[in-house]
Amino acid sequence: MGIGTWYPDQRQRCVDSVLTALGHGYRHVDTAQQYDTEKYVGEAIQRSDVPREEITVATKVRPSNLSYDRVLESTKESLDALGVETIDLLYVHYPLKAYDVEETMAAFTELYEQGLIDNIGLSNYSIPLLDEAMDVLDVPVFAHQVEMHPLLQQQHLLEHARKHDYWLVAYRPLVGGKVMEMPALIDIAEKHDVTPAQVSLAWLLSKERVAVVPKATGDHVAANWDARQLELTADDVARIDAISREERTVTRESSVMIHDEPMPWEET
Ligand SMILES: NC(=O)c1ccc[n+]([C@@H]2O[C@H](COP(=O)([O-])OP(=O)(O)OC[C@H]3O[C@@H](n4cnc5c(N)ncnc54)[C@H](OP(=O)(O)O)[C@@H]3O)[C@@H](O)[C@H]2O)c1
Repeated sequence: MGIGTWYPDQRQRCVDSVLTALGHGYRHVDTAQQYDTEKYVGEAIQRSDVPREEITVATKVRPSNLSYDRVLESTKESLDALGVETIDLLYVHYPLKAYDVEETMAAFTELYEQGLIDNIGLSNYSIPLLDEAMDVLDVPVFAHQVEMHPLLQQQHLLEHARKHDYWLVAYRPLVGGKVMEMPALIDIAEKHDVTPAQVSLAWLLSKERVAVVPKATGDHVAANWDARQLELTADDVARIDAISREERTVTRESSVMIHDEPMPWEET
């Protein structure tokens, strides 16, 4: 489990959340050039007692920075903002705008060979685009980050992740807080004396090869971490698996970054 750091407003709250998360046991922090929180993540890492080498720092290259030169330059800007010498996991945020599979992957490989990044990640890909990127890369893909929760279960992407042995990282794992209103999750939560948010996280973590990056502040940071201890029954898992209503919350309309291009999943 990582701590998400996308704050549409109140970015400075990020320092407290990441510090709380690290103090509570989290060792994975998820940020992005686009979130404008890299410097706050960096400040939290500096201020924390947790040794840098124990923390997986993940960030993402903004779609407009995906040309060969801009991947290299903007990653150096990210390293500076984060105050680290190596980024543990660098994602392509979306394969859109300046993305060109050969050029972008060549730049990621260059960063990897220079030791400036330890792992390559992709985010918001379709299966054909994943296959294309994996064909071009000599370095294995470490993770694919996508919207994933009880209302968007991503079964095909999960099968692809398992087949090719990389992590599927679930973003928006609490549907932005909306899981708290889902009747099936409320029911299961009451049975275990936990919250629907904890049920959603435990359900995702019950799946092999899935990681989660909930964003949280205050007491939610610890509550989410504690969801790792929650063991759902096979019936609970099956009940959530059977939810057929689909709701994608990150869409072209909701994204200021790429509102003028079709999303990768709209093309397949
Ligand atoms: N790769 C991508 O394109 C992409 C896109 C979107 C998000 N992400 C990543 O995924 C992370 C998580 O996604 P997200 O922030 O959109 O949504 P999310 O994690 O599903 O939901 C965050 C919301 O849930 C609330 N919450 C957190 N823990 C809770 C709990 N235990 N009980 C009740 N409410 C709780 C938070 O409120 P409080 O702040 O009050 O705790 C916040 O309003 C982001 O921060 C970002 O790192 C990546």
